[in-house]
Amino acid sequence: MSASPAHRDASDRPLPQVRLVGTRPEHAALCWQWRQEPVARRFNPYDDLTLDELAVRFGAVGHDLSNHAFKTFRWMVRSEEIGFVGTVSIRANWRMLHGEIGYQIGKEWGGRGFGRAAVALLCDEAFQQSELIRLFATISVGNEPSRSIVESLGFTHEGTLRKHHLIEGHFLDQWVYGLLREEWRPGSLPA
Ligand SMILES: CC(C)(COP(=O)(O)OP(=O)(O)OC[C@H]1O[C@@H](n2cnc3c(N)ncnc32)[C@H](O)[C@@H]1OP(=O)(O)O)[C@@H](O)C(=O)NCCC(=O)NCCS
Repeated sequence: MSASPAHRDASDRPLPQVRLVGTRPEHAALCWQWRQEPVARRFNPYDDLTLDELAVRFGAVGHDLSNHAFKTFRWMVRSEEIGFVGTVSIRANWRMLHGEIGYQIGKEWGGRGFGRAAVALLCDEAFQQSELIRLFATISVGNEPSRSIVESLGFTHEGTLRKHHLIEGHFLDQWVYGLLREEWRPGSLPA
């Protein structure tokens, strides 16, 4: 998918340019490594997959949001200077026309704006390339970087699901954040 337009953050700093590239099985090793990072495991209910199982899954996802034969879509986040820095996904419900987003940036590349730039681009693409009318994210309570991203992009906190995910032996509450098509301003962050 196309490179990010000149997204800017709340202080009007330009966000890093990123591009979304459809995931293929050979990307699984990098993502599998990111899935082992303690901060990622602490907040996310990953299925316990081997690398081979993850590669099979990566070969079965869609990349073109106009193709309703797929429900799960995944892309790698690519920075021209660095290479692959993370991954983003959408799980679409084509009957309800909503999609749940997911995103991860490798710890090594965290805190540089890649997460926000990637999610901003994902929203652009989702609303431009599909008929989805709503995107939402479920975020473990306490995952402040993740919450900061969606709030800065104009998502609304719609509620909190109590003890919704069992992660690493703990039941965690989940914030639900939603964004409607009419609330999104392509290529720019809300003031
Ligand atoms: C959440 C995640 C994608 C953020 O990626 P990132 O590239 O580091 O995010 P950004 O650099 O765009 O920063 C986003 C915001 O988080 C803030 N932030 C970073 N670390 C933080 C921390 N420990 N506490 C509070 N805020 C923090 C940043 O300052 C920034 O906000 P600001 O611009 O208002 O200062 C990344 O940490 C990650 O992949 N985590 C594991 C997977 C995950 O939890 N994904 C989300 C699933 S819902």
